[in-house]
Amino acid sequence: MTEIRDLLVETRSFPPPPAFAAQAHINDRRLHDAADADFIQYWAEQAATLRWTKPWDRVLDWQPPHAQWFLGGQLNVSANCLDRHLDGARRNKAAIVWEGEPGDRRTLTYWELAREVRTFANVLKGLGVQKGDRVGIYLPLVPEAAIAMLACARIGAIHSVVFGGFSPESLRDRMNDAQAKVVITADGGYRRGQIVPLKRNTDKALEECPTVKHVVVVQRRTSGPITEAHVDMKEGRDHWYHRLMQHANDQCAPEPMDAEDVLFILYTSGTTGKPKGIVHTTGGYLTGAASSTKMVFDLKEEDVFWCTADVGWITGHTYLVYGPLANGATCVMYEGAPDWPERDRFWSIIARHGVTVFYTAPTAIRAFMKWGVEHPRRHDLSTLRLLGSVGEPINPEAWMWYQEHIGGNRCPVVDTWWQTETGSIVISPLPGLTATKPGSATQPLPGYSAKLMDAQANELTSGGGLLVLTKPWPSMLRTIWGDDARYVETYFSKWAGRPDLYFAGDGAKLDADGFFWLLGRVDDVLNVAGHRIGTMEVESALVEHPAVAEAAVVGKAHELKGQAVCAFVTLRDGFHKSSELRDDLREFVAKKIGALARPDDVLFSADLPKTRSGKIMRRLLRDIAEGRALGDTTTLADPNVVAALKEQYEKDE
Ligand code: PRX
Repeated sequence: MTEIRDLLVETRSFPPPPAFAAQAHINDRRLHDAADADFIQYWAEQAATLRWTKPWDRVLDWQPPHAQWFLGGQLNVSANCLDRHLDGARRNKAAIVWEGEPGDRRTLTYWELAREVRTFANVLKGLGVQKGDRVGIYLPLVPEAAIAMLACARIGAIHSVVFGGFSPESLRDRMNDAQAKVVITADGGYRRGQIVPLKRNTDKALEECPTVKHVVVVQRRTSGPITEAHVDMKEGRDHWYHRLMQHANDQCAPEPMDAEDVLFILYTSGTTGKPKGIVHTTGGYLTGAASSTKMVFDLKEEDVFWCTADVGWITGHTYLVYGPLANGATCVMYEGAPDWPERDRFWSIIARHGVTVFYTAPTAIRAFMKWGVEHPRRHDLSTLRLLGSVGEPINPEAWMWYQEHIGGNRCPVVDTWWQTETGSIVISPLPGLTATKPGSATQPLPGYSAKLMDAQANELTSGGGLLVLTKPWPSMLRTIWGDDARYVETYFSKWAGRPDLYFAGDGAKLDADGFFWLLGRVDDVLNVAGHRIGTMEVESALVEHPAVAEAAVVGKAHELKGQAVCAFVTLRDGFHKSSELRDDLREFVAKKIGALARPDDVLFSADLPKTRSGKIMRRLLRDIAEGRALGDTTTLADPNVVAALKEQYEKDE
């Protein structure tokens, strides 16, 4: 296991503040003990906190690697997130407190949100959407994103949200893979003062999406509509959201869904050029989302919960929409960038809305550190009582800074490890129980079995290894949309003859207390500012450029983003390296995939280092990109290639 290095020596430990522990939902190990004694019974009890219209016959059917949970049971996710809260005092409680980047605001109570959702559910029905149909959602972070997701859930349509920062081609590929019937978009959204032309992107994508019959366009108004300059409405296909809503009925009974009916598909990057449609189902997903939100964020009736993720990512699905709403919480939703118009925007939002629980990503925390403590200091952050981190390993210094300067040394910090595939948090402190250590996600939540293994499936109790989940869990992915073989191959084939072992793709180490320290991906997947990007995806984009013969992409350590994309390319005959071509290639990738995949570095090379069997040796390229001494080059077909590359890279830097 030479790839997995043990670099951290961190001995600081922070027990839960006594006042926090005293009021916490969980401050002893009873739930862990119950789950250890009988994990099936444990999950049945968690699921029972939801509203089922028909009880399940069987908690788990596990035919490795396929699991089905709560078989025979029926429920509706939107009824659990909305209708359940309308009988008592919660009906008037704020469900979503939204801020647009330009400063516009909107608050929706549970009552109002439920009504919008029912009305939009009827709009979808009116466009011919039926149970099981796929609906694409390509929106800025506006309340309509949550409304659209919940409206799909209400009628049993399967949503597939595509992050608004993705390109038309990315949208096209996802909509085609899902065979979507309808796409919901907006005229535009705001990001750092600029308008993101979502409708224009959608139009471009739909030139090659034959299954999409209708487009619903949300008008993103601020001082005036963005509309005229940006939107071309196609007769018969395109419809304004606000017009359709005016004419739709506001009554719509929730469709009874089987526990195993698909709730959504969310695309994520893997080790091939083609993103995978991760499939999540109804009963298990909501069980994981609802229970983890309550436990990890110690969610109480009066909390104001702000998860800064976009709904385009799993974190936005589970902790901006489904988990908090299933718990009847108040959620803050913010459309834009943290440094717009100033670098204190997040802190002003926390103060303005009295946020109590704040959940963000290490990449943001590192940027805040760099911008300086004067920004948070200008605001009253005393309402905060708990902080969370997600998306990538958090370096101990960022953790300490977060705890001190945002949490005022009084808020526990929960570093939560999970994935699009796991659906909800798997490894995390319980803030009233676990003594945290800066940089460690600590231990699995009750009901989860995370282990460390070597390449031969031997369990390791210390040191570095591969992170494995050895038991199924309710919110696990069920398959990859349209490609079950890839599901089996990617997640359950790492250890021959052990289709019961889920391979997460992450390396980790275990310390003497049995705490996990996540070390990053062990496959060809990068984590750039908390976003997952496949090296192959970027390579496939690059080789579509007429100048590029071959490309190899690696991650390079980056102070703020965690990793940055670094591309090595060889050119076709007749093309010559130049700084214009370098810029052109960077933009080309941004246009093909989205700005998040734009390479920081493009290095031109006469050749790429390959093994004798022709495999590009990314490990060596990483060493070059990060300026390290070169490792073993003896397996290379031509060792001179690497020496030449290294020399050139150092010159170009
Ligand atoms: O490498 C791990 C990293 O993010 C990957 C999952 O990415 P994605 O599916 O986009 O979901 C991100 C949000 C859940 C993981 O395989 N990751 C996520 N959380 C952490 C993390 N790495 C270290 N520590 C974390 N807390």
